This record gives sequence, C-alpha cells and structure tokens, in this order.
Amino acid sequence: MNKEELMESARNTKKAAYAPYSKFPVGAALLLKDGNVINGVNVENVSFGATNCAERTAIFTAITKGYTKGDFQAIAVAGDTMDFLPPCSICRQVLSEFCLPDMPVYLTNEKKEILELSLRDLLPYAFKNLDM
Ligand code: THU
Repeated sequence: MNKEELMESARNTKKAAYAPYSKFPVGAALLLKDGNVINGVNVENVSFGATNCAERTAIFTAITKGYTKGDFQAIAVAGDTMDFLPPCSICRQVLSEFCLPDMPVYLTNEKKEILELSLRDLLPYAFKNLDM
C-alpha cells in the first residue's frame, strides 16, 4: 500500500470518530509490515482527560491483535485542518515505544498534500530507557 492509499484509509476512518466535545474528528491508519492496516479514531469523553487520540487507538488496537515492536511500517493521520496535523506529544511517546525512529509518519492538510516525516523528526531525544 502506498502513502496515498494509507492516507485515504485514515481520511475514511475519521468518519467514525467520537468527538462531540471538540468537534475535531481525527483518523489514523497504521500500516503493518505484513501489509495489514489497522485504523483508529479519537474517542472523547465528558471527562476530557479520558480522551484517546486516533493514533493511540490504532496502536493499542494493533497491540491487542498481537502485533508488537518491529511490526509497524508507517502511520498516516488525517483531520479537517488547513495545515498539516501532527500527532500530539503523548501519541509521539506511545509511537516511540513500539516503532523505530525512522518509521514514516504521514501528515495531510486541506489540499490533501502529504508531508512525510519520521518519528525521529517528531520526537528527537525520545525517552526510551529506564536504565540511564
Ligand atoms: N487528536 C487526535 O486524535 N490526534 C491528533 O493528532 C491531535 C488531536 C484529538 C484529541 C481530541 O479528541 C481532539 O483531537 C481535539 O484535540
């Protein structure tokens, strides 16, 4: 699957977002090395801090299905934003737990352009080790 198809998957899944408070639906599409794609949406809560972002929903679903470190090839994130929508910092940390620093992270904007970054670009000097 190419990055355009992966982004289209993220855009399509956005419709399932549960975002009644922010009215800011987000969709994510996580490409596995075996070719499967796992989607995620943001799931909000009236207790706002209980909200889960689309990217984490996708990662947590993948882990639940038995995938783990080394299984992830790329992630695409889509929202209804003018500019490229980047993952929040909590999602960057969660991605860094399971994904290699050079994994592509695809962002998009209202013109449907795709910006390719790496996880390293988004989270340099990631905290990854308790034995420092
Ligand atoms: N959100 C995501 O799902 N992913 C992002 O990359 C940025 C933010 C969600 C969280 C919340 O439901 C809404 O967008 C507004 O912050």
